[in-house]
Amino acid sequence: MSDVADLEGSTLAAVAAAADLAALDTVRVAALGKAGNVTALMKTLGAMSPEARLVEGPRLNALRDTIAAAIAARKTELEAAALDARLASESLDMTLPVSPGPAGTVHPVSQVMDELAEIFADLGFAVADGPEIEDDWHNFTALNIPESHPARAMHDTFYVAQGEQPAPAGHPAAGGVIRHLLRTHTSPVQIRTMLASPPPIRIIAPGRTYRSDSDATHTPMFHQVEGLVIDRGIHLGHLKWTLETFVKAFFEVDDITLRLRPSYFPFTEPSVEVDVGCSWRGGTLSIGGSESWLEILGSGMVHPRVIAACGLDPDEWQGFAFGCGIDRLAMLKYGMTDLRAFFDGDARWLRHYGFKATDVPTLSGGVGA
Ligand code: PHE
Repeated sequence: MSDVADLEGSTLAAVAAAADLAALDTVRVAALGKAGNVTALMKTLGAMSPEARLVEGPRLNALRDTIAAAIAARKTELEAAALDARLASESLDMTLPVSPGPAGTVHPVSQVMDELAEIFADLGFAVADGPEIEDDWHNFTALNIPESHPARAMHDTFYVAQGEQPAPAGHPAAGGVIRHLLRTHTSPVQIRTMLASPPPIRIIAPGRTYRSDSDATHTPMFHQVEGLVIDRGIHLGHLKWTLETFVKAFFEVDDITLRLRPSYFPFTEPSVEVDVGCSWRGGTLSIGGSESWLEILGSGMVHPRVIAACGLDPDEWQGFAFGCGIDRLAMLKYGMTDLRAFFDGDARWLRHYGFKATDVPTLSGGVGA
């Protein structure tokens, strides 16, 4: 009788004293394990007389249950304490800066494309695109540059070495011959857009373009953004207002003067080249004012033949288009001087001129980030 009471007392004391889960488990094994002392007592029941077992059985069962319950309770306590300790030691300060800092930057060309999309989205323009490997019908013929036209030679075109092929059935040039090439401008996206969906159309199309040309200001691959509006009653005034609004928003300068010079593109009539006014401030030329002029884009009213080539009636639908070099826009806005560095993939240049991935251009936050 006192054996059982002693055992209970000492085991419960050991349970209470167990400082961690490992110590508690040692106590459990010593009492309830195969060779444990409570287990050994339980084994004596077998050799007892039925009368004695009737008395001892419930007592020993109660002993075992009390100890098991005490161990379970202590285990819960120790686990909670261990969790608290871990939470205290592994606390995370979410307000600390990221470490190591984010690697990689957004290339200025991508940043400018995002800025353009943001500015023109505000004016109701969607973003369209087209293939970089074009065919000569979309790149030239439909843009009113027929086979013999000198403008074809002027474009320094990279042709894809597969020769001439009869235009497949369903191709807009069906019945003729097509040649594949790397698009020399984004203007074929005008054609693809007009063929794909009915007017009214308001799109910009930023993307890569290719010409066999290479020096400090020309790279064989470069970037353009095309703009196209087709609707009823569109005139040169719409073009001028749109370009002014765009240039003001892009350079974040209100004092913008645009100079529209008569020019020639086969796919626009009339055609205008657009210069932006600049002035000298502290030895550098900056956008704004009208001391000097920088050419930024070509534009004009979409030629009726181009509208007709896309199956639209030029008496009903008019529009304007513009094409602008994105790399040059980036250089003017962010002050890079050598175009070739854009495509060198030099990590130091990218770290210097690149943008944080979180610098998403927004009109309200300033598109210049
Ligand atoms: N595609 C012309 C170029 O690359 C630019 C342009 C586009 C001009 C649209 C007028 C209208 O030079």
